[in-house]
Amino acid sequence: MARHKIGLIGAGQIGGNLALLIAQKQLGDVVLYDIPAFEDAAKGKALDLSQLTAVDGTPSRITGTSNFAELAGADVLIITAGLPRKPGMSREDLLAKNLEIITNVAQNVKQHCPNAFCIVVSNPLDAMVYALYKIAGLKKQQVVGMAGVLDSARFRMFVAEALDVSIEDVHALVLGGHGDDMVPLTRQCSVGGVPLTSLIPGDQLDAIVNRTRKGGGEIVALLKTGSAFYAPAASAVSMAESYLLDQKRVVPCAALLEGEYGLNNIFMGVPARIGAGGVEKVYELELTPPEQAMWAKSVDSVRKTVEATKL
Ligand code: APR
Repeated sequence: MARHKIGLIGAGQIGGNLALLIAQKQLGDVVLYDIPAFEDAAKGKALDLSQLTAVDGTPSRITGTSNFAELAGADVLIITAGLPRKPGMSREDLLAKNLEIITNVAQNVKQHCPNAFCIVVSNPLDAMVYALYKIAGLKKQQVVGMAGVLDSARFRMFVAEALDVSIEDVHALVLGGHGDDMVPLTRQCSVGGVPLTSLIPGDQLDAIVNRTRKGGGEIVALLKTGSAFYAPAASAVSMAESYLLDQKRVVPCAALLEGEYGLNNIFMGVPARIGAGGVEKVYELELTPPEQAMWAKSVDSVRKTVEATKL
């Protein structure tokens, strides 16, 4: 079997870390793509990472380019092209500029990589994944947004810290859009099988939910120059790995809904199975009335952002 080819669109902070993780996990060859003004940066990162493969003993070939044609034949594309947030900005503030960028990326995807499995990371996530799907004319199984894995990871980290338990044993599910009104489903969370709601008092759990919702902003405020990149990269790589190795992991991610949850033509964060067929299945959950209210609010925000794209 030929080695997998993974195209990274955007060779910035997340792009560089994606390449590192992909090489270390030996998932395949990597092409780091960026615009001509950043071609040297993409090539420099690729060279540095190629030298790392000697030390790590991994077989990945890593190259940098500003020529999209070099991505042809990619099995997976991970898209991080676009501006990150600066302190005080919401993800929605990035819409106009990042829509322009995703439009350019989508046209290139359509021309050069129409069969790749596409994982979108650029923000505002739920609108950017919709724009890529629409403009590139992709099948719904072929395009997914990375948010739920990251939001759930943040929630798990805060719970593990509060209870002094291994993060591995904290199971959590965060649904909805990748915005400040995302929906952490505390009722579905457990620690080694013990319901989380029996371990953490309501007000402390509310504080964790609130910190999760603002988890990205907390890091932006500390970094001052951009947004989070290590955990976002790891989250996207876990999704790429599930596709490439047909792991059929069930993870929260932004998938196109066609009737599920009573919604149509909208990407929302829901549990989905990712395997060789791409987004193979969306799982529906019955929500309690309070969860339903949070979900509706999140759907509303995503709809507003998507409507602003005029697609
Ligand atoms: N095609 C490809 N790459 C592009 C394009 C384009 N049309 N336009 C911009 N880029 C590149 C930039 O040149 C930059 O190198 O995208 C890269 C983005 O990298 P960073 O600025 O370091 O941003 P990063 O932290 O990686 O975040 C990227 O992911 O989580 C989201 O909110 C975040 O939207 C942001 C995106």
